[in-house]
Amino acid sequence: MKNKMFKRILYGGDYNPNQWPEEIWSEDLRIFKQAEINSATVNVFSWAKIQPSEKNYDFSELDKVIDKLSQAKYDIVLATSTAALPAWMSKRYPEVNRTDYEGRQHKFGQRHNACPNSLVYQKYARKMAEKLAERYGQNPQITCWHINNEYGGQCYCENCAKAFRVWLQQKYQTIEALNKAWNLEFWGHTIYEWDEIVLPNALSEGIGKDKTAFSGISIDYCRFNSDSILANFKMERDAIRSIDQTTPITTNLMGTYKTLDYFKWAKEMDIVSWDNYPSYNTPWAQTAMRHDLMRGLKNGQSFMLMEQTPSQQNWQPYNSLKRPGQMRAQSYQAIAHGADTIQFFQLRRSVGACEKFHGAVIEHVGHENTRVFREVAQLGAELNQLGDALIGATSNNKVGILFDWDNYWALEYTSGPNKDLKYVDQILQYYTYFYEKNIAVDMISVDSDFSQYDLLVAPVLYMIKAGLAERLENYVQAGGNFVTTFMSGLVDESDLVYLGGYPGPLKNLAGIWVEEIDALAPEQANKVNFATKEEYECHLLCDLIHIEGAETIANYSTDFYTGTPAITKNSYGEGKVWYVGTQLEKNGLTYLLDQVTQESKIRPIAENAQGLEITKRVIDDQEFTFVLNLSQVEKRVPAIFNGKKNLLTNQFVSKEMVLKSFDVLIII
Ligand code: GLA
Ligand code: ZN
Repeated sequence: MKNKMFKRILYGGDYNPNQWPEEIWSEDLRIFKQAEINSATVNVFSWAKIQPSEKNYDFSELDKVIDKLSQAKYDIVLATSTAALPAWMSKRYPEVNRTDYEGRQHKFGQRHNACPNSLVYQKYARKMAEKLAERYGQNPQITCWHINNEYGGQCYCENCAKAFRVWLQQKYQTIEALNKAWNLEFWGHTIYEWDEIVLPNALSEGIGKDKTAFSGISIDYCRFNSDSILANFKMERDAIRSIDQTTPITTNLMGTYKTLDYFKWAKEMDIVSWDNYPSYNTPWAQTAMRHDLMRGLKNGQSFMLMEQTPSQQNWQPYNSLKRPGQMRAQSYQAIAHGADTIQFFQLRRSVGACEKFHGAVIEHVGHENTRVFREVAQLGAELNQLGDALIGATSNNKVGILFDWDNYWALEYTSGPNKDLKYVDQILQYYTYFYEKNIAVDMISVDSDFSQYDLLVAPVLYMIKAGLAERLENYVQAGGNFVTTFMSGLVDESDLVYLGGYPGPLKNLAGIWVEEIDALAPEQANKVNFATKEEYECHLLCDLIHIEGAETIANYSTDFYTGTPAITKNSYGEGKVWYVGTQLEKNGLTYLLDQVTQESKIRPIAENAQGLEITKRVIDDQEFTFVLNLSQVEKRVPAIFNGKKNLLTNQFVSKEMVLKSFDVLIII
């Protein structure tokens, strides 16, 4: 697929005219036009409408919608509608309904509810994708295919159990290999026949909702479930592709959503798209990190912001309004991190059911004289001005943070040493340091080409898959800098411990070995002392470290391991490796990473821009620097931007320039 997937920034979002009488559609378009809306995502949940019974398809309404939008020259994002089962299918074929973690087979209801291994579901979903492609695939206004919606969840039905056994046979070939990989001698769980394997849920190996007696089977189930659902995506994609060879195909992802291995998924998608729904108290760094992860899924290729609310959500505990200017600022934050589209959920607010209190471009009042609409219209005018300048722009960042779904699953299944250890939290602590310093970061997979980075950061890289340690060694040998932490290098891809001392295959690289791991409860703390006498608190876990070639950067200063190393640095080939044996309080992590970035020669985009978010996109040697004030207070623009042009106003930045809360500059 080419670099510029779209000719303009798609601006619009989920549009459900099927929920409204036809008279309203023209009024919708009249209002949308005032906001320069140029795109609509249709048919997301219309399966029951376009296939009212097993034998009957009825596209008459969708034809009208697509005609109307096509005449108005919209970029149409056409969804395949397969994310909510029609009632007739649930009733006639109960196997299409999922069985949950507790083993209960569901009835008709809700959405995102199909068993991925149901042949009936597969047959009808494939057929639907085919029919849609045949009918609409040649329409030049169809700019993108949107398969299903927010794929996710799990199924524990008998069909899935059968498919799991086949998946396992392919993976392990022999029962002996499987017994060994899952360490089934433990508790005498040895398997002799493939059909003795049952799915790991609350009725079998599950301990509570998210722990397991046998992580081997549970991690394999996560992989299998992600693959099963991915197979549904590929099936619809292939059905479309055999008829429409050119239109990009996507499905909307959900940031750090745990259940699906998005790196694997992205390989099958032409363009990544995702839905951004931060809560009122989500740190800005966390949203930025999610955007960067979505950009990282396809090695830095720009993505679609498929959904965000113009104002308010309904499904969070506290659905605060976006403050004046906030939606605009958040939209530019998405663009700054790689979005080529700004799309809302949804264009007109529903009259009933659970999303009637979800914000929309057209609110219940039904006209355009609202604060929300005015803000949508202002942004629409600006994006229209930007044209295609930014589309396809990438980044050239020098810091990579490793993210891996196998690691996510395995780390969080561990029973011990500390129940509060959460993967995304750990990654976010490191990400936040770079975010606050305005050092732009790529979120990358463990399979990426590391050589383009000056610094790689891999917090809690618990699982080291085959070949990874060697690739990291080569990277550091050649001059790369590498930071890793406690709970790294512990297990292989089957979650079997690397014997001979922690951190297993990273021992050489780090020049240490770890003998024991202490766990601290929330009310407990230890302290670390740097050689410079700086002292900081640390929490969660404390590795008891022996030096094998590394130098000690900081020691613990309380408890029976006082005076032993907590943080080390090792020279390896041309490069350096820092091992952080505990969770440092924020100031301590800043103190350490300041040294790391200095020694790794990493520079921020702008120094001393405390509290502004500054990031960059690049295309054809043209740099676009985004300066966002996401705080509540006014901030000065850093001096390095004096005299430069702000693309949004075509004015030049002056010395005295101040950014108010939610102000944005795009500096060229
Ligand atoms: C998700 C879904 C949408 C809608 C929004 C509401 O992102 O994809 O259909 O339910 O949430 O926030
Ligand atoms: Zn199932």
